[in-house]
Amino acid sequence: MSALVIVGAQWGDEGKGKVVDLFAAHADVVARFQGGNNAGHTLVVGDARERTVVHLIPAGVLHRQTTCVIGNGVVIDPSVLCGEIDDLRARGYLTDPAQLLIDERAHLILPVHKKLDVAREERLGDKKIGTTGRGIGPCYEDKMARRGLRVVDLFDAEYFRERAARLLEGRNVELAQVYGWPAIDLDDLCREFATYAERLRPHVTDTALYVHEQLAAGKRVLFEGAHGTMLDIDHGTYPYVTSSNIVTGAVGTGAGIPPRTVNRVIGISKAYTTRVGGGPFPTELHDEVGAKLREVGDEFGSTTGRPRRCGWFDAVVVRQAARLSGMSGLAITKLDVLSCLPKLKIAVAYEVDGQRLETVPAGARKFASARPVYEEMDGWAEDLGQARRFEDLPSAARKYISRIEELTATPVTLISVGAEREETILLRDPFLL
Ligand code: GDP
Ligand code: IMO
Ligand code: MG
Repeated sequence: MSALVIVGAQWGDEGKGKVVDLFAAHADVVARFQGGNNAGHTLVVGDARERTVVHLIPAGVLHRQTTCVIGNGVVIDPSVLCGEIDDLRARGYLTDPAQLLIDERAHLILPVHKKLDVAREERLGDKKIGTTGRGIGPCYEDKMARRGLRVVDLFDAEYFRERAARLLEGRNVELAQVYGWPAIDLDDLCREFATYAERLRPHVTDTALYVHEQLAAGKRVLFEGAHGTMLDIDHGTYPYVTSSNIVTGAVGTGAGIPPRTVNRVIGISKAYTTRVGGGPFPTELHDEVGAKLREVGDEFGSTTGRPRRCGWFDAVVVRQAARLSGMSGLAITKLDVLSCLPKLKIAVAYEVDGQRLETVPAGARKFASARPVYEEMDGWAEDLGQARRFEDLPSAARKYISRIEELTATPVTLISVGAEREETILLRDPFLL
């Protein structure tokens, strides 16, 4: 039995897609267990550097022998999912419908959720969260309020209509009376979702049972986390977070497996830090160094195209993420980008109200006032794109990685030196760590 979890260790966009695609070559199943199409996972494959961005479909999809699972903890926008299936099929992937399984208990993102997400953000003005506008928050709210609609409901038109009517009753009042937006029409909604029922039917099943059976049969299952630990609804920089749990613990509920099944956890972190959207970010660089990281690292969102905020590596954040998720190893991505800087800094602690702090404080205002305590390190100028073994790296880069290991108390098991699959230094087999 082998269950490997991939978790983002920062604020998302750490390169999880690349690592999942790489490991999927050795996995029988790749399963998403939380979040929705607020995620954007980029895969770059082959000499032609063919680029694929997946938002809902697991990043193992380019491997035909790998079954992709969208677990019950994911919130699904069926219009986006159908579009993604069509795009992949048009490019010769996902030709066998059995390669994609969708859980019948997963909740559906409805048009009203997307509209509410955007309307609320507009109203918040400069206090906004900076959401992706995909309806994620309102959908999870309805799930918890026990008025949500689930994939299984698509196949019972009468029940779907009855539940949708009840949901829209309250949500339309908010949309129209609080925000002045046009209400959603029940007939239009039912008509549109009936088409998704037909499209998605071949993929829908009890995926918790499927994953259980696969694990029991000794298959290798990779759980693909979305976003990053600092965006976790409980453990992140609340309220500047997403609406799902991101830490390893979420695999239990979001994929329907007992937590003790998980035996390996790899955290993904950039060699520096980025964040999209609002919220505190102590090591953010507002100067030309930050601009350089954005330019060289091509730091623009895979989902919304927004410029990512850039800053130094924050060891406090990654150490906390490693603790929360029980990371057995770290994958450090985008090390190649740092070749553009002669000197590097790592935040090893914070100073808050004159006191040294070794953990991320809970309060948003306190975290916003945290001043990083930096350690400076030498950079390197060599192009790292061709490095395939640790020894191929310049000594300054090796020291930088070793310092990250010490500060996060976690071994680095993979180093990524380019977006493409091959541009990787694999230090240990992820399933055998
Ligand atoms: P994810 O959300 O964690 O899957 O990350 P994204 O795909 O949103 O963003 C990561 C970006 O960095 C993508 O454009 C990747 O192609 C790219 N990338 C991943 N690893 C590396 C790397 O080691 N070096 C460089 N230069 N780019 C990388
Ligand atoms: P991947 O999986 C980066 C951020 C949004 C916003 C906050 C809440 O690609 O790493 P939401 O739409 O979820 O309600 O927005 O969370 N966010 C991400 N940032 N990468 C992601 O996913 C993200 N998913 C959500 O920018 O600040
Ligand atoms: Mg992303």
